[in-house]
Amino acid sequence: SASTSPVTQDLFTVNSPNVTYSDDEINTKYAYRTTSVTENGDGNFVATPKETLYDFKVDRKIPKTGMMLVGWGGNNGTTVTAGIIANRLGLSWDTREGPRAANYYGSVVMGSTMKLGINAKTAEDVNIPFHKVLPMVHPNDLAIGGWDISGMNLAAAMDRAAVLEPTLKAQIKKQMTEMVPLPSVYYPDFIAANQEDRADNCLAGSKASLEHVEQIRKDIRDFKAKNGLDKVIVQWTANTERFAELVPGVNDTADNLMKAIENGHEEVAPSTIFAVASILEGVPFINGSPQNTFVAGCIELAEKHKSFIGGDDFKSGQTKMKSALVDFLISAGIKLTSIASYNHLGNNDGKNLSSQKQFRSKEISKSNVVDDMVAANNVLYKKGEHPDHTVVIKYMPAVGDNKRALDEYYAEIFMGGHQTISLFNVCEDSLLASPLIIDLVLIAEMMTRIQWKSSSTDGAATKEFGNFHSVLSILSYMLKAPLTPPGTPVVNALAKQRGALTNIFRACVGLEPENDMTLEHKLF
Ligand code: NAI
Repeated sequence: SASTSPVTQDLFTVNSPNVTYSDDEINTKYAYRTTSVTENGDGNFVATPKETLYDFKVDRKIPKTGMMLVGWGGNNGTTVTAGIIANRLGLSWDTREGPRAANYYGSVVMGSTMKLGINAKTAEDVNIPFHKVLPMVHPNDLAIGGWDISGMNLAAAMDRAAVLEPTLKAQIKKQMTEMVPLPSVYYPDFIAANQEDRADNCLAGSKASLEHVEQIRKDIRDFKAKNGLDKVIVQWTANTERFAELVPGVNDTADNLMKAIENGHEEVAPSTIFAVASILEGVPFINGSPQNTFVAGCIELAEKHKSFIGGDDFKSGQTKMKSALVDFLISAGIKLTSIASYNHLGNNDGKNLSSQKQFRSKEISKSNVVDDMVAANNVLYKKGEHPDHTVVIKYMPAVGDNKRALDEYYAEIFMGGHQTISLFNVCEDSLLASPLIIDLVLIAEMMTRIQWKSSSTDGAATKEFGNFHSVLSILSYMLKAPLTPPGTPVVNALAKQRGALTNIFRACVGLEPENDMTLEHKLF
């Protein structure tokens, strides 16, 4: 039977009349304060503080959770799997720089902290691991499975990826050998032709079908049953696909999309088949690649089924730097005028992206990442004005997974002067992406256990507890082109994304948002 771990001892409890704990739940009353602004006609504003009262309910029982990856046999899939196994076993291994031990560096959830408050005696900050703010799943406890169009077992696929040290691989080889990806959906038109030689593990049929949806749903159910799981999260870390064309009557509504799948329409991508299967199965689906998996019909389907989705495209290296650096420049009042970004990489992702249509997906995903920061600064930029921005990606087999990213930021400073910042970023791509895969799973899972209702008097009141919106924009920190609920703004600025994540988690246990006023140290 699906077993549920008992509630673990909380690292902290909140001592407030607004927060109550039961064996199963944390219940919180939370005042969300914003500012409502009206324009008075002469271009001036009236700002009115506004308060909305929410009830949050957090399910404290940590579920037995599984992670299923599409593209399990790829660089990311094998690396994250090996990393979790190594952590679970507490492994260490020799490298030419000395021994190294398994860790979760690069995971916000597992590797970062947040300030709980101020020590009542010493007045020093008290910081706690992010993982301890809410009752979250531990990555060591994740069951792992998935699909790949390449049937190689995970040990061989890990060798093919050429990311991890042989001294580590040797210790997990046996376990990894036993892991073999399930056959997957392969529509050759969607990924680069140069991927064809690894596609030896495919379901019959090379265009969309309901049978494919049903097979994936069955795979999810079987995995759940076999591992005695309460929950499964599915994540796309397979090759970047070309964009699907948006065709009215085909992918614009949920019903049309289901019909298009039934009719084998050629504009339904494999990633959309996985998304649809996950939505119908009620398991969260996250897209780690740039393509438009979430066509309008797919988002509508998720809303209809109250199923969770998140995307798009892991934000690991160059873009993560960009969304921090551009935020800094523009917030500092410096007028950024151009960004030139070059990448070269030699892994299979790079090989796939050497094909024009797949590159185009990545180019689009990398292009809009500074828009919100530019638009917010109406002092430096006129309406519609943008810095120049170009993105180049080249396939250079020799550098393997050690991606290079070269960026030049060119800005105008005081009195017509210039500032040029040149960055050269080198890192193993899969070692940056793997912790994001983990964070996305842990946070998405947590969001399935948080419910809210509103008791405000401003018309937003709701009687019943409900879920967060199907589109989990709280995952934005980990994603290059964050998907948000239709009609809502996209936030790319890294610090704001982290703020949203931490402060929503804090709100769920009745803690005020992190603010950095530190008045207690500033007043006489
Ligand atoms: P990879 O090419 O090593 O792995 C992709 C895997 O997907 C391969 O094993 C391939 O056989 C499999 N595959 C392709 N089509 C499939 C399908 N229809 N069903 C099941 N499996 C399928 O690539 P890598 O480096 O693991 O990256 C994966 C994805 O993540 C790429 O789309 C990449 O653009 C994206 N990404 C990676 C980042 C990173 O830092 N590594 C950052 C941002 C995005």
